[in-house]
Amino acid sequence: MSAPQARRRVAVLISGRGSNMRALIEASRAADYPADIALVVSSKPEAAGLEYARAAGVETAVVDQADFPRGDAGREAYDAALQHVLLRARIEFVCLAGFMRIFSADFVRQWQGRIVNIHPSLLPAFRGLKPQAQALAAQVRVSGCTVHHVVPELDAGPTIAQIEVPVLPGDTEETLSARILAAEHRLYPDALRQVLGSRHARS
Ligand code: GRF
Repeated sequence: MSAPQARRRVAVLISGRGSNMRALIEASRAADYPADIALVVSSKPEAAGLEYARAAGVETAVVDQADFPRGDAGREAYDAALQHVLLRARIEFVCLAGFMRIFSADFVRQWQGRIVNIHPSLLPAFRGLKPQAQALAAQVRVSGCTVHHVVPELDAGPTIAQIEVPVLPGDTEETLSARILAAEHRLYPDALRQVLGSRHARS
């Protein structure tokens, strides 16, 4: 029998509510879960998720995007500051969970195969902002959520796992988003378990 693998030091990156972060922290309480949520980083100091993380005893950091100028130089400086925080905490794997920033290609390359995101649509359908509203506008009957590897192009990396969610007659952006979000909370912990168990995630 092979020896049990050490838990990986995972950072969750947020910008707001942090309900997916919470699902990951809760999952990581199981002794056999392959991730230790060792750090939560927010791009905004007022992100509600920070409070939950602190109360749960998870180390938190803020890399405030307001401290950095807009444009390419600001993006690179932001990503360098973020990289410093991640390396200082000896992070091995990164989960984006409502992190409302686009990375420089360099940052993504440094984490290639070790950075994943959750998106509230069945990718490749409805990339980018407001995918639930896009799904309603397209009048699809089924939408859902996707956990995928992060590549430089937005919402375009290989899919790890998806859950389908019905779009019901009379749905609004709010009702559909809430139904998809409940599925996200099941999907993300399972997908992270899956990807950490695969060769792809090992550096
Ligand atoms: C989720 O719908 C996620 O899929 C998207 O942003 C939202 C974040 O919600 N990327 P929360 O902060 O995890 O509650």
